[in-house]
Amino acid sequence: MLVLGIETTCDETAAAVIERQPDGSGKILSNIVHSQIEDHAPYGGVVPEIAARAHIDLLDGIIRRAMTEAGIGFADLSGVAAAAGPGLIGGVIVGLTTAKAIAMVHATPLVAVNHLEAHALTPRLTAPLPFPYCLFLASGGHTQIVAVLGVGDYVRLGTTVDDAMGEAFDKVAKMLGLPYPGGPQVERAAALGDPKRFAFPRPMLGRPDANFSLSGLKTAVRNEASRLGPLRPRDISDLCAGFQAAVLEATADRLRVGLLLFRERFGAPSALVAAGGVASNQAIRGALQAVAAKAQTTLMIPPPALCTDNGAMIAWAGAERLALGLTDTMEAPPRARWLLDANTTAPAGYGKTRAAY
Ligand code: KG4
Ligand code: ZN
Repeated sequence: MLVLGIETTCDETAAAVIERQPDGSGKILSNIVHSQIEDHAPYGGVVPEIAARAHIDLLDGIIRRAMTEAGIGFADLSGVAAAAGPGLIGGVIVGLTTAKAIAMVHATPLVAVNHLEAHALTPRLTAPLPFPYCLFLASGGHTQIVAVLGVGDYVRLGTTVDDAMGEAFDKVAKMLGLPYPGGPQVERAAALGDPKRFAFPRPMLGRPDANFSLSGLKTAVRNEASRLGPLRPRDISDLCAGFQAAVLEATADRLRVGLLLFRERFGAPSALVAAGGVASNQAIRGALQAVAAKAQTTLMIPPPALCTDNGAMIAWAGAERLALGLTDTMEAPPRARWLLDANTTAPAGYGKTRAAY
């Protein structure tokens, strides 16, 4: 099975071709990702209108490169998959409409993929991984603990009640004068700092649910930074180290509870899987390793290029759905919001309008 996947929900314009064997194994034939970071960096974050226009300009060329690199023609495709949400609606419309046009012209099935489902299924592309497993997804738009029970069968065990984790990293970086995207900058500065100099709060620690809260911690960093006045490099490193230490401890605690809830409801998971840009943070990886060991499960993190947004994950989710006969019609809507688990509601305290919940 050969599937083309298209990703345009945020600031990556991406297309990929993957091959899926009848035994369920997968292979990436091409995976082209164009990051628009430079277009958005002057604004300190993603500007939706700029992103949508860039997707229009870039997508055709990116798809052409993905097809050429895979060495196939449109007639060879078993299907075309696009991320139909959740995300910035302008970009989603560009990707989904392009996929519909390809599907119609080449008479090949369309799969409208949930971007979160694609993150959830990606680890099965690179290694055999049976259901059920526990997913920790932490990126600029999402922070969730999800029980992955099967294709299309997800139960959200925890989520953030305010900021996403990557968003918190980005905002802390911005307030300390570090460039966008802030996650890697904060990680770098934290490695040089003293995590004990500032006593930042550990949000939600010990709570019986598996939800996250990051905005109070972010505010605590802001207050400390303004109390210090003009910041010396040493202050910046110590603030980053203190912030990251608090995130690590909170993450470990929330995942400990998430894995307990998982076990109570679904038995032992085959693995703890981490995905999203934040999962590329080495310190967080270390914390997850310890959590997995304590919960007597193994930690699996896809390679960094598959953790962050890309087309291969969309193509793979499309292939997993196609293999089960799940396809979509030309009426499939683009969605700014699209819960992975239709049965969950937003957690108490939820008060923001991000697409990811
Ligand atoms: O998954 P991703 O590439 O895109 C989406 O947001 O969907 O994640 C990007 C996010 C940004 O907020 C970025 O600051 C964060 O992941 N990030 C990190 C690190 N690398 C990227 N956060 C903490 N430490 C990192 N090393
Ligand atoms: Zn993503």
